[in-house]
Amino acid sequence: MALHAEAKMQPAPALTPMDRLTELLAPELADVERLLAERAASPVATIPDLSSYLIAAGGKRLRPVLTLASARAVGGKGSEAVNKLAAAVEFIHTATLLHDDVVDDSDLRRGKAAAKNVWGASASILVGDFLFARSFTLMTETRDLRILDILSRASCVIAEGEVRQLAALGQSELALGEYMAIVEAKTAALFEAAARAGAYTATNDDTVANAMGEYGRRLGRAFQIVDDLLDYGGLTAVIGKSVGDDFREGKITLPVIYARETGSAEDRKFWDRVMGDRDQHETDLAHAIHLIRASGAADRTLETAREEAAAARGALTRATPGEFRDQLALLADQTITRAF
Ligand code: IPE
Ligand code: IPE
Ligand code: MG
Ligand code: MG
Repeated sequence: MALHAEAKMQPAPALTPMDRLTELLAPELADVERLLAERAASPVATIPDLSSYLIAAGGKRLRPVLTLASARAVGGKGSEAVNKLAAAVEFIHTATLLHDDVVDDSDLRRGKAAAKNVWGASASILVGDFLFARSFTLMTETRDLRILDILSRASCVIAEGEVRQLAALGQSELALGEYMAIVEAKTAALFEAAARAGAYTATNDDTVANAMGEYGRRLGRAFQIVDDLLDYGGLTAVIGKSVGDDFREGKITLPVIYARETGSAEDRKFWDRVMGDRDQHETDLAHAIHLIRASGAADRTLETAREEAAAARGALTRATPGEFRDQLALLADQTITRAF
């Protein structure tokens, strides 16, 4: 009893901005989940089987939250159109994950075996195509051509980013600018589109919608940079993905670029061997993680992500003052703290 009374006196743990936004948007998000389940339906059983496997595995639903919160942060009151848009954005994301795990030969997604390991690569790609197409049906139902324009362009840019990254595999001297261009395309473009199109469901002011897009773009850059760091030392239990996927694949990311830049001649030979030639031995991933930490590359990577998060916050000046704007500002910081 005494213990119980004591526990009751503890202040409630503070909600993360993602938790708070999820709470504020609960009815809309429930509608988005309903749309995701309904629109994954098909008489061809593999389609709902495979897609519901991935969708029900969870995922953070960061992009639909971004879409919905962006609309609210510019005066939106919630609408069927914005919910459809948010579902469409999550479908595009889901499709890219199905394709991406085939391309990256990743075995774990959202804490479960990647769909390609359950149904095979061909089914994963084809169901990804189905979800992509479905997302466009949802968008047409909003009857807003701006939304189609923004999301169709973003879809092209994402595909370009993924292809561009293929060409960069194994280039151990990958330039920082090329890395950032890939991040911008494969990840930031969808964050930007989600936020910008979300804003357009609530305002016709281009300046405001573009500022929300800039918030999303910067948030996406910060998010991917941190994700790339987590590949060298995150916990599988937390990230739901295998650590070291990028390393095994020879994918050069910011922690490696920074570690190589300040490393000794011997370190550079190591990076060239493991990433360039993909000649990897059992202890190499541990050594890579060691080099990334010891050289300060991990801290520098976080610093770069922090700059992006600060730029994201800065873009919120056009949003309407209120809790949605405040929580979006905090969300930018949360992309950084998830690294710890
Ligand atoms: C994974 O995105 C792809 C990247 C851009 C790194 P998320 O980390 O948002 O994936 P889910 O939706 O939560 O699984
Ligand atoms: C994420 O790519 C971007 C897309 C899926 C388009 P990554 O390959 O870097 O992300 P994870 O690590 O598989 O989630
Ligand atoms: Mg991947
Ligand atoms: Mg990838």
